[in-house]
Amino acid sequence: MALAGMRELLEKSLAESKDVTPSDKMFLHDGELYTTMICCPETLKILDTFEARSDDVILVGYPKTGTNWVGQILVELEAASGKYDEEERKKRCTGQNEKELLLFPYLEFGDPAKFERMKKLPSRRVVKTHLAPQKLPKSIYQKKAKILVLFRNPKDTAVSYLHFANGMKLFPTQKSWDEFFSDFISGKVPYGLYLNHIIEWNKYLDDKNVMFMTYEEIKENPALEMKRMAEFFDFSVSKQEIQSIVEKTTFKAMKDQAAETNEGIGNILFRKGIVGDWKNVFSEAQNEEMDRKFEEIVARTKLGKMIKYDVYCKG
Ligand code: A3P
Repeated sequence: MALAGMRELLEKSLAESKDVTPSDKMFLHDGELYTTMICCPETLKILDTFEARSDDVILVGYPKTGTNWVGQILVELEAASGKYDEEERKKRCTGQNEKELLLFPYLEFGDPAKFERMKKLPSRRVVKTHLAPQKLPKSIYQKKAKILVLFRNPKDTAVSYLHFANGMKLFPTQKSWDEFFSDFISGKVPYGLYLNHIIEWNKYLDDKNVMFMTYEEIKENPALEMKRMAEFFDFSVSKQEIQSIVEKTTFKAMKDQAAETNEGIGNILFRKGIVGDWKNVFSEAQNEEMDRKFEEIVARTKLGKMIKYDVYCKG
């Protein structure tokens, strides 16, 4: 779902955060931590009532792997492929339909009645979530909806997560990098241990309805990766349309667009948008700890190799 909805939700959460007592900021559901700032237990409890459609465009990514960016790319590809008139195109690309239905930008965010309201969204719906594969609503698999799974190197993901969490006041108190690193590496953050998500998705390598992509690959060659997305989701788009989407979804274009409505939230959502920022933040000991943990849990899996840890997280 498009970005406008995301900004509004974050603005609302931020405004309300001063009324939330620190101990009420997190809750556990099904063994995983969530933040009350954007999720509510009732919604998570009835997640399985979400009715997927076979033509849904599902985007899954752990927080801070670039899901707002890739979500917007998918919304634009869907709109270009749908050959809608200008008014409908705009509605879809700015999230107007979602806004009218008071929908929240990620499947698990917001109130439980949203799944009912989502039925009114016209196809093809672009549905984003941060959930791990074993927690996705069953109908997504039953309907064989196609799923794009996004990864980002864990070191940049961690740095991005800290800035977002502090900016959004997600935790009871503001965290230093050292404190956050230790939570991140032990999975004591909303959505749990990132490396576990990679391990779980590794079980879906042979599923033809699942495609994996990395933030770094898209940064390196956005046109090529958008072409892959279009082929996977059966979007019919021309080379020129892809080029135009590449230009509309650069980091600068998206940040400028966000600044037009709300600079504060824009600065939280669009921070640096680069690869390798971790080098400015990780200590030697933290580097070693992350390298060791990656080696232990993920490195030998196929997906572990696919995310090119040695290229993006070493040196
Ligand atoms: P940084 O904090 O490293 O800058 P998510 O959308 O999943 O929350 O991920 C947020 C990360 O994606 C942030 O990373 C953000 O800056 C980056 N991002 C957002 N839009 C982007 C774009 N158009 N191009 C590249 N990175 C982008």
